[in-house]
Amino acid sequence: MKPVYPLHYRVALLPAYQPNPLRALLSLQLAEKTIEAPAAGQLLVRMKAAPCNPSDIAFMQGGYNVVKPLPAVPGFEGAGVVADVGPDIDPAWIGRRVSVFVQGHNDGTWAEYVLVSPKHILPAPDGFTLEQAAMFFINPFTAWGLMETASGQNVLMNAAGSRLGEYLLALSKQRQMHLIGIVRKEQTAETLIKRGFDSVLVSSSPDFEQQLRQAIQQFQPHLFLDAVAGEQCGQVASLLPPDSRVVVYGGLSGKEISGISALQLIFKKLTISGFDLNAWFAAAGNEKVNEVARQLSLIIRNNEVQNPVAITVGLDELAKGLRHYLGAMSEGKMLIRF
Ligand SMILES: NC(=O)c1ccc[n+]([C@@H]2O[C@H](COP(=O)([O-])OP(=O)(O)OC[C@H]3O[C@@H](n4cnc5c(N)ncnc54)[C@H](OP(=O)(O)O)[C@@H]3O)[C@@H](O)[C@H]2O)c1
Repeated sequence: MKPVYPLHYRVALLPAYQPNPLRALLSLQLAEKTIEAPAAGQLLVRMKAAPCNPSDIAFMQGGYNVVKPLPAVPGFEGAGVVADVGPDIDPAWIGRRVSVFVQGHNDGTWAEYVLVSPKHILPAPDGFTLEQAAMFFINPFTAWGLMETASGQNVLMNAAGSRLGEYLLALSKQRQMHLIGIVRKEQTAETLIKRGFDSVLVSSSPDFEQQLRQAIQQFQPHLFLDAVAGEQCGQVASLLPPDSRVVVYGGLSGKEISGISALQLIFKKLTISGFDLNAWFAAAGNEKVNEVARQLSLIIRNNEVQNPVAITVGLDELAKGLRHYLGAMSEGKMLIRF
């Protein structure tokens, strides 16, 4: 049934950017907004679920690529049902379950309703749970894009207990490549070895560097996927074989990259670059995105990834959910249900 306008709905609102993540999450407020009707080029989605990703935390800290005018509604992805469409959009969308991706300055997905453009939705594949549909955009496609940079060579990654790590593991198995992980907790390493990582190193262990040398010697990874940055990037890069690449796709340490040797760049042909999912989507085009979505949905339906949700909360329980997520990120996401 179409909503009655003006439509009043609840959102989470960030009043100010806060470098301290705890302060940022405690500052979130519940607020009411109003929509008159979707305009041309817009679909109105009744949100059902939305996760919290590291990019949402970075956004609330004011440390992300997207900086919205304040107060702002956070949330870069989620899932829901199309409730209404603008005058130029096919009304057949109404009632369809969709995965949503919000970038730019528009209100985010931590809201009961969101307005999106057709290029920022995907029909939720048949058989997907709500959780799977809500987390179908950011990590699956990023893992795919990162794997494209591997050219079949073995891969070393940090923050390996992440959901993205799950997708990289599934994709590396399909391609018969070895995946070596770096984590910061022993318990995470034990879980990942059971899941099928070829080797998992614990960065907090006193013999980390020696373990890293051995793993690099054994598996010869020529690609390091770095989500942490800081001094760990330089430490790992210095041990990679000649002709290796570092692709930085996250900055979880909150620190600048350091310790990259000029000699290694010049004489061992180390290259370093970044990965941005938005740029990947822009370059990919619709046909490729749909084909990759089909292949990723098979991985999800075949339970090759688990996508665990560690805590589910309502819009009025965000501080509780975010505290839990920040304390044990490898356990799974915080999911907001509306
Ligand atoms: N560039 C892009 O376009 C793009 C797109 C998607 C995702 N990403 C990035 O990909 C990364 C993983 O995202 P996700 O959603 O898969 O994460 P996630 O499932 O929420 O898990 C986060 C992981 O990072 C680890 N971690 C957190 N802070 C860390 C630190 N300071 N040092 C080392 N490890 C740390 C956590 O380990 P503990 O359990 O030990 O806390 C956990 O395993 C993030 O950096 C995210 O921003 C980038």
